[in-house]
Amino acid sequence: MCKKPYYITTPIYYPSANLHIGNTYTTVAADALARFKRLTGYDVMFLTGTDEHGQKIQRIAEEKGVTPKEYVDEIVAGIKSLWEIMDISYDKFIRTTDDYHIKAVQDIFKKLYDQGDIYKDSYEGWYCTPCESFWTETQLVDGKCPDCGRPVEKAKEEAYFFKMSKYADRLIKHIEDHPEFIQPESRKNEMLNNFLRPGLQDLCVSRTSFNWGIPVTFDNEHVIYVWIDALSNYITALGYGNEDTSLYERFWPADVHLIGKDILRFHTIYWPIMLMALEVPLPKQVFGHGWLLVDGGKMSKSKGNVVDPVALVNSFGVDPVRYYLLKEIPFGSDGLFNNEIFIKKINSDLANDLGNLLSRTITMIEKYFDSVIPAPTAKEDIDNELINLALATPVKVQAAIDDLKIPEALEAIWDLIGRANKYIDETTPWILAKDESKKERLGTVLYNLVESLRFASVMISAFLPTTSSKINEQINSEVTTWNSLSAFDGTSAGTKVNKGAVIFPRIDVEAKLSELEALRQEQLKATEKKEMKPIKEEITIEDFEKIDLRVAKVIGCEPVKGAKKLLKLKVDLGGEERQVVSGIAQYYKPEELVGKSIVLVANLKPVKLRGELSQGMILAAATDDDGKLFVVDPGNLETGSVVR
Ligand code: ME8
Ligand code: MG
Repeated sequence: MCKKPYYITTPIYYPSANLHIGNTYTTVAADALARFKRLTGYDVMFLTGTDEHGQKIQRIAEEKGVTPKEYVDEIVAGIKSLWEIMDISYDKFIRTTDDYHIKAVQDIFKKLYDQGDIYKDSYEGWYCTPCESFWTETQLVDGKCPDCGRPVEKAKEEAYFFKMSKYADRLIKHIEDHPEFIQPESRKNEMLNNFLRPGLQDLCVSRTSFNWGIPVTFDNEHVIYVWIDALSNYITALGYGNEDTSLYERFWPADVHLIGKDILRFHTIYWPIMLMALEVPLPKQVFGHGWLLVDGGKMSKSKGNVVDPVALVNSFGVDPVRYYLLKEIPFGSDGLFNNEIFIKKINSDLANDLGNLLSRTITMIEKYFDSVIPAPTAKEDIDNELINLALATPVKVQAAIDDLKIPEALEAIWDLIGRANKYIDETTPWILAKDESKKERLGTVLYNLVESLRFASVMISAFLPTTSSKINEQINSEVTTWNSLSAFDGTSAGTKVNKGAVIFPRIDVEAKLSELEALRQEQLKATEKKEMKPIKEEITIEDFEKIDLRVAKVIGCEPVKGAKKLLKLKVDLGGEERQVVSGIAQYYKPEELVGKSIVLVANLKPVKLRGELSQGMILAAATDDDGKLFVVDPGNLETGSVVR
């Protein structure tokens, strides 16, 4: 076989929750590229998978009372079925719990250790005994454990470190010499200026505080840092480090790692440095796409705005979802997922432009030619504009995809679809049909329309595979190769068309929107129930009465020097003034708090935070773990009131 290899990867996903439309975006984009490369004659390896180790997964499994492996097995099954629903044509699915991967990662770690790139050392930090977690100074919140808020102790932990700095200059040079390596361009400068040029620190690459990870073979209290484990998947999936390395030899280096911009640093700094140390060639390109946002910003469970791809597919079908993701999100920048725009796009681009072109064409062939595609025997000059555009379009599409400009590729295809619709208006076949002497001309017009549809269908097969098959079925075409688009004659006259169902029924925008809103409310209720935090251990009324809560008024507020998270408040308790230090600086400006009433835990033992005395604690609440913190508002209660 003399086909050129093409290797494309998605990130491997954390099986920690249901995947949402954001994760789906990465994979649909990779799928479109993989399908397009297959269509245009490449031997494609399209890899995806799951990143299954780490403390977070161990914790979730513990909470659920199952083993981590049992937990991930179930989630991974769900992820695989999502990819089936989304028509993802991956060639290989890697799990980091697969034996061959574990073995290869252990060998990689050992090799790097043996050659001196990984060394053992210890580092000092802060330890939270109840959580068994190690924290650095900057991770602490108000000098306490950021997880549980309890006091921490100074401690020393042994760990393995990777000599990142040794390879930094080589990497900077590589990035500068290969402008295509980090894409889009803007992200390259961010990596160079924010991370590489200021200097790299050695990376801690082992953990001892949990054990759900790949053990270091020669020191089995340590598990290998998840990112070393995860990034290696791109080569272990090809057999690197195992007996049969034929795929590795064929497909490495990867043509493109497609990822979201949030994990660019791992892919353009840690990963290339690992490869340099292993003397493995670097991937040709890392493409960091943008963030998929919803109205109101980031998706979050508590806001009830997480877009579930399965619900969308159930409601609209898979291709409308794929179309929206591929066409409407500028590839490389952030983009918005909005139901109304989504539905309107389905109506305009899919139902109107493409759907109508197909149904009008088929209906006319049925009506005027007894469903048999006529031969193009009566050409006119006016046809050339359509034919020339059809012939030029595959070239444009290919050029756009070579540049990873997916929306532009679809735009070129839709230009052709639009041109074909205009051709119907120009040639007015229904008028030609009234005049028997124009029968050949009518046949030619209809032939050109079917052939234009065939062009569109072949080209969209990479993006909307189901729709492409439906069109092929209706126009009864088996000529589906890319090469068949080099001439405008792939349709065989004499073939019978198969009129089928409307491929994209028009959607009633208002009705559908309210249906979706009802669904969202339902889901929100369900998550609220499911996500409720467990209630803490029971206490007695006497325990509770020990807590003295008072309504107080903020009379002064300023930042605490050198502590980004802290504010220093002066509060009036109705007869006494207190100073309280509170970790709310990220959420409130000092002037927003002055004049506000708050609830104070008034008999909390005073502590010093960053050298400042704190006499009490302010009650605050957040909608979710990483949500904004709101100070509890006692309303019109008088300053000094006792809260019981
Ligand atoms: O990061 N919009 O996995 P992951 C666009 N296991 N993309 C989004 C998104 C959004 N709203 N939310 C997430 C990991 N993504 C690691 C990868 S690779 C060796 C290890 C994208 O499941 C995100 O940018 O958290 C990333 O590319 C992908 O989903 C996987 O995220
Ligand atoms: Mg993530």
